[in-house]
Amino acid sequence: MLRKFLNIQYPIFLAPMAGVSTPKLAAEVSNSGGLGSLGLGSCNHEEAKKQIEQLKQLTSLPFQVNFFCHQPEKSDATLENQWVQYCCSKFGRIDLMNNFSQAFSCLYSSFLENDNFLDLIIQEKVPAISFHFGIPSKSQIHRLKQANIVTMASATNLIEASYIARSGIDIIIAQGIEAGGHRGVFNPNIDSAISTLELVFLIKNNLSIPVVAAGGIMDAQDIHDCLRVGANGVQLGTAFVQCSSSKASETYRQSLFNSKVTQITATISGRPARGLVNDWHLKIDSPDRPLTPPYPYTYYFAKKIYEYTRQPQYAAFWAGSKVSKIKKMEAPDLMKSFIENVDF
Ligand SMILES: Cc1cc2nc3c(=O)[nH]c(=O)nc-3n(C[C@H](O)[C@H](O)[C@H](O)COP(=O)(O)O)c2cc1C
Repeated sequence: MLRKFLNIQYPIFLAPMAGVSTPKLAAEVSNSGGLGSLGLGSCNHEEAKKQIEQLKQLTSLPFQVNFFCHQPEKSDATLENQWVQYCCSKFGRIDLMNNFSQAFSCLYSSFLENDNFLDLIIQEKVPAISFHFGIPSKSQIHRLKQANIVTMASATNLIEASYIARSGIDIIIAQGIEAGGHRGVFNPNIDSAISTLELVFLIKNNLSIPVVAAGGIMDAQDIHDCLRVGANGVQLGTAFVQCSSSKASETYRQSLFNSKVTQITATISGRPARGLVNDWHLKIDSPDRPLTPPYPYTYYFAKKIYEYTRQPQYAAFWAGSKVSKIKKMEAPDLMKSFIENVDF
C-alpha cells in the first residue's frame, strides 16, 4: 500500500536527521529502493534549497524532506541567565560564563511561521514532506495537497495520531520511546512514553491511516517485528548515522560504537531527546535543576558549550536505545541486509 502510494520498492525510510543526513546518504537509500530523507529543520532557505538540488542530482527516485512544526516561543532573559549560571557551575566550568553575556539565538524557525519553506517545497516539486513536533496549519496542508506532495507527521501517542489523521496528512510516523533524537511530542511537557511496537499496534487498531514505525529498529528482525504488529513501513535513524556518507563527526561515530547507553533529557535543547549519556544527563538533569529556557533557545547554549570545549561530555550525540546493535556498514549494504532478510 505504502510502496504504491510513494512509488518506492521497499517501505524502508531513512529517518530525516537534521545536521546528520546528507544528500549523498539520502540518495543511497532512495537508490537502494527505500525512501531517502533530508532533515532540513536546522537549515535556512538557501541551505535547504541547495540540499534538495544536490539530492535531485544524485537520484531520480522519491525522497522526503523534513521540517519542525514546534509552537514558536519567545526568548526569556531571566531563564537564560539562570540556566547559564546553573550549568556552568554544575559542569565546574565557571570560565565558560564569560561567553554568555548575550541573549541566546533562536536557531530554528518553525515551519508554522515560515511560508518560505512551503514555497520552496512546492517550487522544487519535492515528492514527500514530513513534520516533527506538530503539524502544519490547515492552509499549509491544503497547499501541499494541491501540489500532490505526500505528507507525513510524527506521533508519539494516540491523541497526536488522531490530530494527524483528522488534518488530512497521509501517513503517521509512529515514534516509540526507543527512538534516537528528539521526541516528536507536540507538547514538550506531555510524553506518553510508549514503545514502538505498542504504539504501532495502538494506532493501527484505532485509526485507518498508514503507519510507519520508528524507534529502536536496527536490523531485519526488528523490521519483521514491526511489520508483524501492523506497521506499513519502518523508519531508521541511528543505524545510518555511522555511514561514511552521513555528516556525523568522527568522534560521534566512534562514540556510537563505544558507549552503549542512551537516555532522554530536555536539558540539551529545551525539548526531550535521546542521546548517548554524558554530562548533560549526569550533571545537569538533576531533580533540582531550574526550568530550561524554551526550545530552541536552550540548544543554542548547548551547541556553544560544545563549540568551545569540543569534548564529548558536552555533546549532543543523538542515538536510539538499541545503539549497542549498531554495525559498521555503508547505507547500500545496510539496505541490502534488510531487503534480503525481510519478507515485505
Ligand atoms: C541524529 C538524529 C537526528 C534526528 N533528527 C530528526 C529530525 O531532524 N527530524 C525528525 O523528524 N526526526 C529526527 N530524528 C528522529 C528520527 O526521525 C527517528 O524517530 C529515530 O531516528 C528513530 O529511532 P532510531 O534512531 O532508534 O532508529 C533524529 C534522530 C537521530 C538519531
